[in-house]
Amino acid sequence: MAPPMFYTKYPHPSNFSFVTDFDAATGRARAGKRQFQFSATSHVDGFFHLAARDPGTWLPNVSLLELDVPGTSPDSRVRVGPGLDLALLDQAGTPLVQSVPGHAFGVCGEASMFLFEVSDDAQFLGMGEKGLGRIELSGVRTKFWNTDVWSDFHWSQWKDHPVDPTYFSTPYVAVRTGGKWVGFLLHNPGVTFMETPGTDRTRVFAEWQRTSRHLILGSENGEPSLWIFTSDDLAGLTRKLQGLVGKTPLPPLWSLGYHQSRWGYGGQKDILELDRQFAKHGIPCTAVWLDLDYMDGARVFQVAPKQFPGGVEATVSRLDSRRRIVPILDPGVKRENGYRVYDDGHAKDVFCHNSEGSEFVGIVWPGETVFPDFTLASAREWWSGYAKEFRQSGFGAAWVDMNDPSTGPVDPTEMLFNRGKEPHALHRNQYALGMQMATREGFMLAEPGERPFILSRSGSTGTSRYSAVWTGDNVSNEFYLRQCVPTTLGMSLSGIPFNGPDVGGFGGDADDELMVRWMQACLLFPFFRNHSTLESRREEPWHYAASTRKQLAHAIRLRHRFLPYLYQLFIGQEELGDPIVRPLIYDFDDPALASVNDEFMVGPFVLHAPVLGVGQTDRNVILPGSDPWYNLSTGKWLPPGEHRLGVPLGSSPLFLRSGAVVPIQPELPTDNRVDLANPVLLVAVPPSWIGETQAEYCADDGLTFDYRKGVRSKGTVSVSGATARWDQTQSGFGSLHPVIAWPVGSPVEVVGSSGPSEKLDLQFLGRALKWEATTLSR
Ligand code: GLC
Repeated sequence: MAPPMFYTKYPHPSNFSFVTDFDAATGRARAGKRQFQFSATSHVDGFFHLAARDPGTWLPNVSLLELDVPGTSPDSRVRVGPGLDLALLDQAGTPLVQSVPGHAFGVCGEASMFLFEVSDDAQFLGMGEKGLGRIELSGVRTKFWNTDVWSDFHWSQWKDHPVDPTYFSTPYVAVRTGGKWVGFLLHNPGVTFMETPGTDRTRVFAEWQRTSRHLILGSENGEPSLWIFTSDDLAGLTRKLQGLVGKTPLPPLWSLGYHQSRWGYGGQKDILELDRQFAKHGIPCTAVWLDLDYMDGARVFQVAPKQFPGGVEATVSRLDSRRRIVPILDPGVKRENGYRVYDDGHAKDVFCHNSEGSEFVGIVWPGETVFPDFTLASAREWWSGYAKEFRQSGFGAAWVDMNDPSTGPVDPTEMLFNRGKEPHALHRNQYALGMQMATREGFMLAEPGERPFILSRSGSTGTSRYSAVWTGDNVSNEFYLRQCVPTTLGMSLSGIPFNGPDVGGFGGDADDELMVRWMQACLLFPFFRNHSTLESRREEPWHYAASTRKQLAHAIRLRHRFLPYLYQLFIGQEELGDPIVRPLIYDFDDPALASVNDEFMVGPFVLHAPVLGVGQTDRNVILPGSDPWYNLSTGKWLPPGEHRLGVPLGSSPLFLRSGAVVPIQPELPTDNRVDLANPVLLVAVPPSWIGETQAEYCADDGLTFDYRKGVRSKGTVSVSGATARWDQTQSGFGSLHPVIAWPVGSPVEVVGSSGPSEKLDLQFLGRALKWEATTLSR
C-alpha cells in the first residue's frame, strides 16, 4: 500500500539530496548516496529539456501523451557548472534561466525537484484549473492530483472558498522574470507540485505563509522530466506551449453555441419539450444534455428503454435538425453479472486491479463500480467500441464525467494500473485523458468525416487534443461567478483553451440577477453551457421573470451573433495555438495588468469587463494600451486608462479595440442558423487613427474535416487608418460576400465596395447603436 495522499502538504527542499557532482561527458550525477543519469538538452526555437533516469527508482515515463518536441539544437545552449549549476542561454550566450546554485535538482525517495532563480518582481501565471480567484499566482503551494472536489472536500469549504487541488492537472507555469517570459512544463503523469515565491495566505502563521524564495517544480513519483521554453511575450510563450502539448483541433461550429443541461432531463419527453420551448422563445440552443437519468440504473452505455421508447434516432428525427443530444458517460461500470458492459469488460480483463489481483471496486452512482484501465490500449479499444455504438444510435456528442476518477468514499490508492503492476498515483492524473482518447476514437470510428465533440470534467496536459472541458461542480453564488473568469483564463494560458464553467452555477439556485450576470459574463467564453443539479430551481431562461428572460435571451442571441468571430478564434487555435480568451497581460505586456482578474480579451479585438458582483451598479474598467476603445453599449470611444462605468443589469461592458475587425452574424439570431459565407465584419477605427491591422476570415461547412482538403474559403481584411480592404484569397467553399460595417461617426472608406451604404441597428448589451455598412462587390 502506497503512503496516504495529502493534498495540502508539500515536499520541502531540506529533505532532498541535491546533485553535488555531475559529469557532463557521461551524464552521471550524484545526489547524497544516490547516483543516476541526468541530461540537459537544448532544442531549437528556445526549448530546453531536463530529465533524470534511474530504472531502480523510476519507471520510464509512462505518459499517454507524446509531446510534439522540437528537434535538438546543433549547438548546446546549456551551461553546466560544478554541482550541476545550470544556466539556459539565449543565442548571444546570456543566461535566460538559472538554477539555484547547489540546488539545481534534488531527490528524496521517488520524489524529485528542480529549483530556479527568479527575479524579485517575478510573476506567475497558468497552472491550469487552480480556482484561486486570481490569475497571478505568487505565494502558491500547489499539488496536481485530479480531485472530485465535492466528494473529497467538505461542502462548507467548496461552497464558497477556493479548494486545491481541483479536477484538472496541467503542471505548467508561465513566469515573467527579468523582463522575459519562461514556461516550465512538468511532463510526468504522476503527482506533481509547485511552489512560487510570495506569501501563502491560505495559512495562518507567518512561518507557514512564507514560501520558497525560488521557483520549485517537482514530482512525488514518476521519472523527472521538465520542459522549459522562453519568449519575449506571453502570447509567444503560449503558442510554444500549445505546439508542444497539442493544439485543439477545430471543433464543430454547433459546439460553440449555447448548451442547455440539467441533472434531471430524462429522455425524449424532456428533450422535445426543451425543443419546443427554445423555438417558442426564439432562443438559440445547439445541444440539450442528458445527465444520469437517461440511463438504466446509472449503468453506463445502457439507455433506459422508457426514456427513448422508439430509440434515440426516433427522437433525433423529431428534433430541430440543428440541435444535438449529448449524453453523460461515467467511467464507473456497475459490478453486476448479467450487465453486458460489465460481463464483456470482465471477460476482456479491462478493469483496474487491486493488490489482491481482483477488480478494484469503488462506490459511484450505480453502487459498487469497477473502472476501465484507460492506460491499456486494449481497454481504450474496448471503450471505443461502445462509444461508437452510442454515436451510431443517434447521440450527437459525449459528456465524460467523474473521470478524476471519482471512487466516492473509497480510497483510490488500491486502484492499480497495468493489471495491478503500476501504482495508482502514477496514472491517476491521466485517467481522464485515456477516457477522452477512447471516446473520441469511438466517435471517429462511427463518423469518420465529422469533427467529434467531447466534454470532460477532469483531464491533464494534452486534453486539448481530444476534449473540451467544463471547470467542474460550482455553486450558484457570487464567489463562483467571480471565480469563473480567472479559472477559465488560467486554463487558457495552460494549454486548455476550450473550456468554461457551469453557467448559473451547478449547486443551489441562481436567482434572476445572478443568472443574468453569469450568462453575460460567459457569453463569449469558449464553452457556454447552463447546467444545474437535480435539486436546483429550474434554470432554463423561460423559468425566469419576463424581464430576466429577455436579458437571458439577449445574451444567448448575442453569443450566436458572435459565432463567426469565435469560430475564427478556434481556427487560430488550431493553426497557431492562440487561446480564445486571455488576460489583458497577454495582449498588452504590462506587469500591472497581471492583477486584473475581472476583465479579459476575447481574441485580439474584443475586451469584456463583465459584472461579477451581486447588486453591483457600477464598476471600474481598465482599458489597456495607448489607443481608444469603442464601447459597444454606448457607441462612444473611450481613451485608454481607468474608467468608472454605470452597469445596470442590462449592461456588461464590451469594447472593440482600435482597428478591430470582428465578424458577426447580420441579425441577432433566434435559432441555430449560422451563415459563415455572409458575415458582417465590424470595423472599428477611431477618428484620426493611423494604425494598421490585418485579419483573416475563413468559412467552411462547420462540421466535417473537408476544410483539411481545401473546402474552405478565406479572405483578408486590411485596415489602414480609416480605409478597409477585402481580398478573397481562397475559394474552396465558394465566394464570400461580407458586409463591412462601421459605427456612425467613425466612417471607414471601403476599397472596392459596391455602391451606397445602408444603415444597421446593432444592439450589444445596451441600447441600439447606429452603424453603417456596405456590401462588397460580388
Ligand atoms: C457530477 C458532475 C455533474 C453531474 C453529476 C451527476 O457531479 O460534475 O455535472 O450533473 O455528477 O451526473
